[in-house]
Amino acid sequence: MQGVPIQFQSPPSGSSLLDPFGRAITYLRVSVTDRCDFRCVYCMSEDMAFLPKRDLLSLEELDRICTVFIEHGVRKLRITGGEPLVRRDIMTLFRSLSRHLESGALDELTVTTNGSQLARFARELSGYGVKRVNVSIDTLDPDRFHRITRWGDLSKVLQGLDAAQAAGLKIKINTVALKGVNEEEIESLIHWAHAGGMDLTLIEVMPLGEIDGQRVDQFLPLSEVRQRLEARYTLHDLLERTGGPARYVKVAETGGKLGFITPLTHNFCESCNRVRLTCTGQLFMCLGQEDAADLRAPVRASADNTLLTQAIADAIARKPKGHDFIIDRDHSRPAVRRHMSMTGG
Ligand code: 5AD
Ligand code: SF4
Repeated sequence: MQGVPIQFQSPPSGSSLLDPFGRAITYLRVSVTDRCDFRCVYCMSEDMAFLPKRDLLSLEELDRICTVFIEHGVRKLRITGGEPLVRRDIMTLFRSLSRHLESGALDELTVTTNGSQLARFARELSGYGVKRVNVSIDTLDPDRFHRITRWGDLSKVLQGLDAAQAAGLKIKINTVALKGVNEEEIESLIHWAHAGGMDLTLIEVMPLGEIDGQRVDQFLPLSEVRQRLEARYTLHDLLERTGGPARYVKVAETGGKLGFITPLTHNFCESCNRVRLTCTGQLFMCLGQEDAADLRAPVRASADNTLLTQAIADAIARKPKGHDFIIDRDHSRPAVRRHMSMTGG
């Protein structure tokens, strides 16, 4: 045993997973695969090595772990990747997790996707109680899209958005701000998203995993972008918080919502409410730190959840205070070795 003892209360008692800084863990992000059908330049190298399939948790094991978290106060689940919708039979997991929405134990089941498979799955997702999806789009120019994603096809993603809207899903667009690549397009992306009834969140490039280029060449501080936007638009701060690093404004001119995820220029770790599970059962308590707890061994050691529950409690007891991201010429190495595709952002 290490760290601060954790008390479990029986559900539904609100949150019962408290970290050493008093933060309640109510949000679990689950990366169901490290694979992706794109190779975004800020995320991956072109010749990424992926995990052998035998290392992956089965969909049943993923469900079991999610269920234990829900029993101990997690109210929101996000399924991520890699690209979650390329994992075989992934709809089985959504179907089984939907029982927690029906019982009221879970408030929200969401997905972060690159949109390439949304046309196929939007309707089914909606049927399993998914109400919102985050779709990553960094540009609306097909050639630029292809250059950023290396392998992606914008028209497929746009078809995916149409299918999602037709299925009644609310969409948030995630856009990574890239210096000299899409910075001139940010305003038109905002107009496009808001005109289509979608929120848009801008993200700063984070130093996660080796890529082919230099992140310092890609990094565009959102403090700068915000200043530029403020010269042309009226931005009203919104008070809503998701326990994450995003801060939202309403753009008076478009009536839409704009988010800023600024781990580099602004750190909001003090209100962090989340932990991240990888597809091999590693639990990361912070996106920006190397420390992880293995949940695969306890899940496989017995059919009973006692060991798993204890492993989760021990892990939360050592959630660190925050990340130490820096991007500059003196820090050209990633802050952590793994890529975003392991922990899904
Ligand atoms: N820095 C910032 N955002 C990243 N993403 C992937 N890798 C990085 C990185 N190194 C984004 C994706 C997606 C979200 C899950 O994370 O574009 O929108
Ligand atoms: Fe795939 Fe998303 Fe990484 Fe792009 S950012 S390569 S879509 S996981």
